[in-house]
Amino acid sequence: MPRHAVYPSEARLEGTTAVITGANTGVGKETARHLYRRGARVIIGVRSVERGEEARSEIVESAAGEQETAGALIVLQLDLASLQSVRDFAQEVLAQADKINLLINNAGVMACPRAETKEGFEMQLGVNHLGHFLLTLLLLERLVNSAPSRIVNLSSLAHTRGKMHFDDLMLKRGYGDWKAYYQSKLANVLFTRELARRLLGTRVTTYAVHPGIVRTDLWRHQGCFDRLLQPMFKTPEQGAQTTLYCALAPELATLSGRYYSDCKEKQPSARARNDEDAARLWEISEELVGVGLQGNSVTQLRQGSATAPQTEPATAQQETETEPTPPQETEAQPAPPQGDGEATTEPAETNGQQPE
Ligand SMILES: NC(=O)c1ccc[n+]([C@@H]2O[C@H](COP(=O)([O-])OP(=O)(O)OC[C@H]3O[C@@H](n4cnc5c(N)ncnc54)[C@H](OP(=O)(O)O)[C@@H]3O)[C@@H](O)[C@H]2O)c1
Repeated sequence: MPRHAVYPSEARLEGTTAVITGANTGVGKETARHLYRRGARVIIGVRSVERGEEARSEIVESAAGEQETAGALIVLQLDLASLQSVRDFAQEVLAQADKINLLINNAGVMACPRAETKEGFEMQLGVNHLGHFLLTLLLLERLVNSAPSRIVNLSSLAHTRGKMHFDDLMLKRGYGDWKAYYQSKLANVLFTRELARRLLGTRVTTYAVHPGIVRTDLWRHQGCFDRLLQPMFKTPEQGAQTTLYCALAPELATLSGRYYSDCKEKQPSARARNDEDAARLWEISEELVGVGLQGNSVTQLRQGSATAPQTEPATAQQETETEPTPPQETEAQPAPPQGDGEATTEPAETNGQQPE
């Protein structure tokens, strides 16, 4: 049995368009490489076009000899820390792609010192969740019109340590580099769940992914302790396998809103299964990015505000072993998440450094 799960699909993807954020390096680059080699047209959204073009050349060269069957790679600028940049990117994607079959919200930052996005959002929530939230909404109509289509959100096992700080979402009163990462990765799972509920019946399905612990630039803010451990991490190619599984596996076509790791469905934490929190996060996110959803159509709300609305402090989370019914896409009754979940208990959140 391989140490790390591999998704062995040989499916051909001619006629498929995929959009991937943060694909100039790491897991995203390996995901883009795979889809391109299978014949897809892949649009990669990157912070630096120069680095994006380098990645494009490297991917194309690595597929030398497969040019006739490979797809296309298009590099577009995207800074998820700026809502205007997200809007510009979405507009360009819509201009270049008549249909979008796959949206992979992959880009991320981890455990960085406190910083803010252009709009004043805490950087990790801003990039990992809010930027992707806006991007998804702006591309949603095209995804719905291209159905069946899929949206894959890169989360992390780290979500199990997270909590939504609804009374201080931007962590102005108590920043912790890991605390902010945990919250943003929990937001990814809650977003996946609520989006699935809202997309019921559209044949657009959503998936949250933990790629494993992967040797990438994501660890740039960590000290030598983690660098020493890195040889034991997955390679980026191994890290891309669960994303590819969620993006391509035919058996997942009727499942939506669930969480996967090592090419298997896993049970996310109790907080990640809290539908009230998922709905609350959605409403706050709409307010913050200034865009909302009516049916499957996007509507402009008033200009997004730069700080989270003041809400009453979140009440203590009631953890329950009761399994809520997961969102489902068709009348078929997919099996509920298996009991071999990764997270059946909620580890205490700390502000200190924690391995991913
Ligand atoms: N590596 C792991 O162990 C691990 C574990 C669990 C979950 N994940 C998740 O997997 C995803 C991919 O991570 P990775 O390990 O492949 O990390 P990575 O190698 O650091 O790649 C992250 C990508 O996100 C991009 N990015 C960062 N900030 C951005 C912004 N403001 N706008 C646009 N793009 C931005 C980076 O661009 P630049 O190159 O320009 O910085 C890079 O392309 C992340 O969501 C991460 O949270 C990773």
